[in-house]
Amino acid sequence: MRIVKGVGEMQNFSREQRAKGRTIGLVPTMGFLHEGHLSLVREAVKQCDCTVVSIFVNPTQFGPNEDLDSYPRDFERDKKLCEKEKVDAIFFPQEQEMYKKPLTFVEVKELSRLLCGKSRPTHFQGVTTVVAKLFNIVRPHRAYFGLKDFQQFVIIKKMVDDLNFDLELVGCPIVRERDGLAMSSRNHYLSPEERKQAVVLNRALSKAQKMFGSGEKNPRKVRKAVLDCIAATSSRVDYVEIVDSESLQPVQEIKKGNLIALAVFFGKTRLIDNRLFE
Ligand code: PAJ
Repeated sequence: MRIVKGVGEMQNFSREQRAKGRTIGLVPTMGFLHEGHLSLVREAVKQCDCTVVSIFVNPTQFGPNEDLDSYPRDFERDKKLCEKEKVDAIFFPQEQEMYKKPLTFVEVKELSRLLCGKSRPTHFQGVTTVVAKLFNIVRPHRAYFGLKDFQQFVIIKKMVDDLNFDLELVGCPIVRERDGLAMSSRNHYLSPEERKQAVVLNRALSKAQKMFGSGEKNPRKVRKAVLDCIAATSSRVDYVEIVDSESLQPVQEIKKGNLIALAVFFGKTRLIDNRLFE
């Protein structure tokens, strides 16, 4: 497995792979890998001749008072996990390698202002800018993203369509802990008490699905039930919204395929989760 730190070196590696007729799969991550990330890696290894995992804690997607400095990092552990999954290369650049006083940014308008974008107004511009750069550096045939970050996936899809990136996006299902909590590097921040309470998110989403399953189509009623569920814990809701899964706009009546998405603070830790109505 190659560890590549330079942009030029990564581009050369990918050019060689392409010249040999090999398909490249890219899994962009911020490291501190868990089973959620590894599910994307396994999918890439299965579908592509050459799998590249990028590990870069991207500063431009963190707000001024967010957790950039405390974001968990463990490259040695990540390296072992990637090796075990038969990853071909890790792209592991330093900040100065990725950002040299840039004046160019990629912004997907409107979609980036909804849901998480309301409380994190610069977040998605940071994500789309770094992902566009990674696409140009790694030149993958396929790129793998988790639907745990559903809005991120929708926004990246729009960017790929709008800017004609020549690659296929693959969305992979949410991987959960045994008790239903969606896996996240940020779960690491939770105190034991907060960790116990955090299972309420998946329970609340299941309750929403159950109501829809038994005929409830009114988003206000479903949203209220979800909020009541969460209110039983000592957490603070950022948002709970029921939206169209492409436009991310609120719906008047819930239909199959609509999305319920939420963000909730447990102490200082902001967790997100979502579910498609079925
Ligand atoms: P990160 O949070 O490290 O996540 C990397 C990828 O793993 C994302 O596509 C995310 O949706 C996926 N993922 C995380 N937890 C998951 C889970 N429980 N189940 C399934 N997939 C999961 O998302 C980012 O990094 C960054 O924004 C990035 C795209 C790398 C740009 O910096």
